[in-house]
Amino acid sequence: MPDLLDPRVRLHVVTGKGGTGKTTVAGALALALARQGRRVLLCEVEGRQGLARLFDRAPLGFEPTPLLPVDGGELLGSAIDAKGALLEYLEVFYRLGRAGRTLERIGAVDFATTIAPGLRDVLLTGKVYDAVRTRQGDRRGDTPYLYDHVVLDAPPTGRIGNFLNVNAVGAGLARVGPINAQAESVMAVLRSETTAVHVVTLLEDMPVQETADAVAELRRLGLPMGRVVVNQVRPPLLDEALTARALARDGDGSGDGSGDGAWDLDALAADLTALGAGGDDPRARAAGLLVETREHALRVARERELRQEVDALGITVVELPQLDGGRHGLDDGGVHELAGALA
Ligand SMILES: Nc1ncnc2c1ncn2[C@@H]1O[C@H](COP(=O)(O)OP(=O)(O)O)[C@@H](O)[C@H]1O
Ligand SMILES: [Mg+2]
Repeated sequence: MPDLLDPRVRLHVVTGKGGTGKTTVAGALALALARQGRRVLLCEVEGRQGLARLFDRAPLGFEPTPLLPVDGGELLGSAIDAKGALLEYLEVFYRLGRAGRTLERIGAVDFATTIAPGLRDVLLTGKVYDAVRTRQGDRRGDTPYLYDHVVLDAPPTGRIGNFLNVNAVGAGLARVGPINAQAESVMAVLRSETTAVHVVTLLEDMPVQETADAVAELRRLGLPMGRVVVNQVRPPLLDEALTARALARDGDGSGDGSGDGAWDLDALAADLTALGAGGDDPRARAAGLLVETREHALRVARERELRQEVDALGITVVELPQLDGGRHGLDDGGVHELAGALA
C-alpha cells in the first residue's frame, strides 16, 4: 500500500490478537488522519465500547458523534451494532420506520442478529461499506464523500478472515433482497486498493504467530494488506555486545552467568559499593543484578528473532513505542503521542 496517511486509502481495517493494542492503534491512526485535515469516522463493531474508554468519554452510539476536537480536521466515532444496522436497512430500503420498531419489539431483530452470526457480520460490514461510500448531501455521487477515511477497530486476528470475507461466501439468511444485492459491492470495496488491512502485534510468541496466520489468510482471500504494526516496542537496555555477554553460558549453574568468567562478581560488587548502591550485601545484590540482566538479554534476543519473523512476512512494518500508562492503560495523551509517531 502507499503511505499510511495517503488520501486514497479510504478504509483502514485494524486487526490483531486481543490485547496487542488494536483499539489504541485504530484510535491513533484515525487521529493522525484527522490531523491531516481529513474528516474521519472511527468505528468499532464488537460492542465493547473500547473507543469510549480510549478517548475517555461517554459510551458511543450507532450515530457518529464527534470524539474530540482536532485542529483543521474532524474525528467522529461510532459503535456499530448489527441491530442498529438491520433497523437502518429496513428503514432505508423498505421505509419500515415504525414497522421495523415493531419487528424489534417482538424480538425478530434480536433473533436475526444473534442467531445468525453470518448475517451479523454481513450487517456490520455492510454498514462500514455504507460509511465509506456515503456522499455529502444526497447520495447521487456528484458530491465529495462524507468521510475522507473510515477506520475500523475490527474483530481480532482469529475472526478477521471470516468477518471480511462474509459477503463472498453467500451468507445464508442474507441471500435475500438488498442485503444480498450489496454483497458483491462490499467485497469489491474491501478488495480494492482503497482498503488496507493492518495487523497489530507485540514481539511475543503468540501475537507474532497469530499475525503470520492472519496475513496468510488475508492474502489467500485476496484482501489488501496494509502494515504490520509492532506495538509497545521497548528499546533494549543493553547493546549487542553486552547482550551476548549476558547470554554467555552459565558455567557454574548459578543462574547469574558468572560461572564462565563472563562477569566478575566481586568486581561488580565493588563497583556497586563505589556507586553507593551496594546495600548490606553487595555480592548478593550483584548476583541478583546478573540474573535480571540475563533475563532481560534473553527477552531482547527473543524479540530480535520475532522481529525477523515479522520482517519475513514481506509487509512494511511500523513500530510504535511502549508508553508509560497508568493502571487504567494509556490516557488520551498517549493516543496523541502515538498518532504523532504514525505521522
Ligand atoms: N504503545 C503503547 N504503550 C503503552 N500501552 C499501550 C500501548 N498500546 C496499547 N497499550 C495499552 O495496552 C492495553 C491494550 O490495548 P488495547 O488497544 O485495548 O488492545 P486491544 O484492542 O488489542 O485489546 C491498554 O491498556 C492500552 O492502554
Ligand atoms: Mg480493543
